[in-house]
Amino acid sequence: MSDSLIRLEHVGKSFVQKGRHVSAIEDVNLEIRPGEIVSLVGESGCGKTTTGRMIAGLLAPSSGRILYSDADISTLQGAERRAYRLGVQLVHQDPYASLNPTQRVRQILAAPLTRHRLVRGRDDLEVRMRELLHSVDLTPADEVLGKFPHQLSGGQRQRLSIARALSVRPSFLVADEAVSMVDVSIRISILNTLRRLRDEYGLAILFITHDLALARHFASNGRVGVMYLGRLVEFADADELVRNPQHPYTQALLAASPPDPLSERHRPPPMKLRQDDIPSLLARPSGCPFHPRCPEFQEGICDTAVPPLVPLTPGHAVACTVRTQAYLDSVTPSGLLRLDSQIMP
Ligand SMILES: Nc1ncnc2c1ncn2[C@@H]1O[C@H](COP(=O)(O)OP(=O)(O)O)[C@@H](O)[C@H]1O
Ligand SMILES: [Mg+2]
Repeated sequence: MSDSLIRLEHVGKSFVQKGRHVSAIEDVNLEIRPGEIVSLVGESGCGKTTTGRMIAGLLAPSSGRILYSDADISTLQGAERRAYRLGVQLVHQDPYASLNPTQRVRQILAAPLTRHRLVRGRDDLEVRMRELLHSVDLTPADEVLGKFPHQLSGGQRQRLSIARALSVRPSFLVADEAVSMVDVSIRISILNTLRRLRDEYGLAILFITHDLALARHFASNGRVGVMYLGRLVEFADADELVRNPQHPYTQALLAASPPDPLSERHRPPPMKLRQDDIPSLLARPSGCPFHPRCPEFQEGICDTAVPPLVPLTPGHAVACTVRTQAYLDSVTPSGLLRLDSQIMP
């Protein structure tokens, strides 16, 4: 038994676009442990939502496998399947789209609790619904229970979505751009609620966002994975990723992110990319997916083989042939000799 809650092994996903099979996710390996916070970050279209939906069992991978508590989710049946379906919950970007506008909060929360027999009778249901609203700071509960989704603010609706996801006592929450549509002023307060839920219930959270500063803020004690064109290109502890980014794409993201007093010291200088546009999946570049934009592009290396995600130091992995080679050169005996000779008179 490993200690992973969710594990992705060589996961790929292809879709049909304009009559052609395109590969949207390629060879993603990812492990999330109980109670852990992991942020997944990358530009729009890089495959974050597809990854989240596969983890939540709403889409099947085209290749590779996803394990929940060491069991392949595609083979789960009966009680084990039920435990997984309840154990992994998805919170969408747009709570409006996922909340039934004709139901009051009371019905929205009661449905999963009664359907999955998680309460014993009326009184228990009332207590549990109030507990859920309190746990996501959506109060006064009595008032909120009688409202329709359109009578709540955007932030309150997102809190309600989180409460509904929590109703089935999950161990893992996929929060897909969960605060992208709410005002900046309430973003941090919802993030704080999510973090508190992690602390109180030991909930593991995959926090998906296109915003690196937010990814880093949310996973401040956790890890961050950077995706580009369907591949994980860098993975590290959040602080390490910001202080010591290795992949040129991560550096470009950091250089372009809005000022953040906490990480200002570590902001790399602005980077000039070779081209601004993200390539289409219909014209996926050969070799490293980032090479057409990468300022460190080396012909014959970056456009030939796809670089695997390899750990440079324990816990910090990068998928870049140029950076990996530079690192190896700096730690191999010949590299050390070079360093020594610079120091020696
Ligand atoms: N159902 C689908 N059919 C065809 N292409 C899809 C489908 N879902 C996603 N894609 C494509 O897969 C890629 C990744 O999409 P997505 O996972 O939504 O990215 P992100 O969430 O990072 O913006 C995009 O190019 C998108 O167009
Ligand atoms: Mg998305």
